Amino acid sequence: MTLQEKCPVIEFKDLGDERGKLVVVEGGKNIPFEIKRVFYIYGSDNIVVRGQHANKESEFVLINVAGKSKVRITDGKEQSIVELNRPMMGIYIPPMIWKDMYDFSQDSVLLVLASTHYNGTEYIRDYDQYLEEVK
Ligand code: TYD
Repeated sequence: MTLQEKCPVIEFKDLGDERGKLVVVEGGKNIPFEIKRVFYIYGSDNIVVRGQHANKESEFVLINVAGKSKVRITDGKEQSIVELNRPMMGIYIPPMIWKDMYDFSQDSVLLVLASTHYNGTEYIRDYDQYLEEVK
């Protein structure tokens, strides 16, 4: 499987009308897992790099509901950079993908949907260890 196949960009349907836009995310429907946790990152800037880890269990969908940011993903073989710049797009990230989030616009609100409750022990935060585990 290519990295792009592992981490597809999801285009959400626009249920908006003349009153404004409406996007729905539903676990097990347009999000490929049941959502157990939601968090959002804002107040980051174009200098910080967040993420810098892989998760052994968690699946994620990242959506910039406002502003924009970039996510660099790798499976240890391929690398790809996706700009999240529309509330109607998301990227799915399965377990064991290394991810860096960076280049946040001032108004960036990065919404993250996760398949698990938080468990710090499933994080791999050392890149060499990550490469060792995926090879
Ligand atoms: P961190 O993993 O560094 O965030 P990012 O992936 O954006 O770089 O998390 C920052 C802190 O927040 C860290 O102390 C762990 C804690 N945290 C939770 O307690 N629950 C969560 O769901 C998340 C994502 C983080």
